[in-house]
Amino acid sequence: MSLMLIPERVYSAVAPRPVRFYERVDSTNELALEWLRQGAETGSVIIADEQVKGRGRLGRAWYTPPGTALILSVILRPASSEIQQLTMLGAVAICELLEHIGAPDVGIKWPNDVQLLGRKVSGILPEVVWSGRHVDGAVLGMGINVRIDFAGTALADRAISIEPVLGRLIDRLDALVYLLNRIDEWTPQLGTKALFDAWRERLNMLGRRVTVVGADGMLTGWAETVDEDGALRVKTDDGTIHRVIAGDVVLGSSS
Ligand code: BTN
Repeated sequence: MSLMLIPERVYSAVAPRPVRFYERVDSTNELALEWLRQGAETGSVIIADEQVKGRGRLGRAWYTPPGTALILSVILRPASSEIQQLTMLGAVAICELLEHIGAPDVGIKWPNDVQLLGRKVSGILPEVVWSGRHVDGAVLGMGINVRIDFAGTALADRAISIEPVLGRLIDRLDALVYLLNRIDEWTPQLGTKALFDAWRERLNMLGRRVTVVGADGMLTGWAETVDEDGALRVKTDDGTIHRVIAGDVVLGSSS
């Protein structure tokens, strides 16, 4: 097993899929969006070993030191009716990878954080390119913490890496190939109940007390269910059901 991602090995392991591998990038999503606009076919993938201006949800930054993670962006050509499930596709495929390698307590924190032992191990950022009402394509960006050391950082109590949990090294190239295979398996199922169910059954906050910080402010209540478009339904103490489309969830009350 090699701890390094060696370009020739990456290319041959991922072949015949179109792939571009970089030692260091600003953002794999940014490069994938450029490639998509140039006509890259569905399934094409940008992979990097280090990312210095990674994009996160809600305009946040996502930095990945060299040699510590899986960082990739897959180009897809979904129909406009399927784009709501892009995040589900990424989250389910990453959960399946983690389950496959024997990671414990794998779950999804709505809407798109994959967690190990209740801490974030992976983030997913889909970006869609439109021409008018038509979807030209989408980029599914995924970052998975393999051996990032969060000790002493501001993220120490919220983020986690795979290897310290498993207590062994993992081969990032094997993991990458497995993940891409899961993505290939699920891509034709975008827009289906099967994909929605695979996502919903891994959500780890349904039936629990949550506080959601969304665009319209903050609310606390019971996470009742999710709709097929991914929206979270939260029942507040006055009995009102709120449909939350985007936001951050924390378990419990904020006060
Ligand atoms: C989040 O905020 O949880 C989403 C983080 C997504 C990070 C990944 S890393 C690979 C891809 N390229 C980017 O610039 N961002 C995504």
